[in-house]
Amino acid sequence: MSASLAGRRVLVSAGPTYEDIDPVRFLGNRSSGRMGFALAAAAASLGAETVLVAGPVRLETPPGVRRIDVRSAADMHEAVLCGLPADFYIGAAAVADWTPRGVASHKLKKQPGVDTLTLVLVRTADILADVAAHPSRPRCVVGFAAETGDDADIARYARGKLERKRVDFICANRVGVAGSGFEAEDNALRVFWNGGERRFGPAPKTRLALHLLDFIAGRIA
Ligand code: C5P
Repeated sequence: MSASLAGRRVLVSAGPTYEDIDPVRFLGNRSSGRMGFALAAAAASLGAETVLVAGPVRLETPPGVRRIDVRSAADMHEAVLCGLPADFYIGAAAVADWTPRGVASHKLKKQPGVDTLTLVLVRTADILADVAAHPSRPRCVVGFAAETGDDADIARYARGKLERKRVDFICANRVGVAGSGFEAEDNALRVFWNGGERRFGPAPKTRLALHLLDFIAGRIA
């Protein structure tokens, strides 16, 4: 390890978001939060003042990390923007892209003879893009991309996100295959930036997080 993040402020988002439908139901996803928690732990171990905005996960707060728990994409958006300014923002959360247009105040009941239920969903705000466009934009904005396509698709999607969201790095990982992605202990990443790409892993998420932060901190030093 070469990089030190002493004197730097690192803001990380991790985990899924839950979008409530009624008092007992929600829309969620399979993100475990492990990659984001590992990144926050790595940032703190490299000496950074580290703030972790965490969706609903059952994980211990890493030592030296200040944790803010949130539930929905809207809550996460607010907590992340309140966490600025920062030197680095790492958006490792699997933020819902869609949320129910309203939350029913009572549990939705089955109706005799009615076989379908239509939920109207609206787009959530893009936290990563909003951080990258913010007047207090961190020097380094890092996004993640969970993809199910083949190698060429993953590269194309990641480069699209770099441009569209105006971020410095996109870390793409394959989901839906063993040994990588949402619920796994290990991960393999392809990190894209303007004009370059590097592969990391497969390795345990804790080790990968340290290598990734060291690499990113070194590139923008
Ligand atoms: O476009 P896509 O959802 O694949 O982009 C993934 C990246 O964007 C992740 O870094 C994720 O945290 C971020 N994101 C976000 N807000 C959203 C959707 C995605 O910050 N509403």
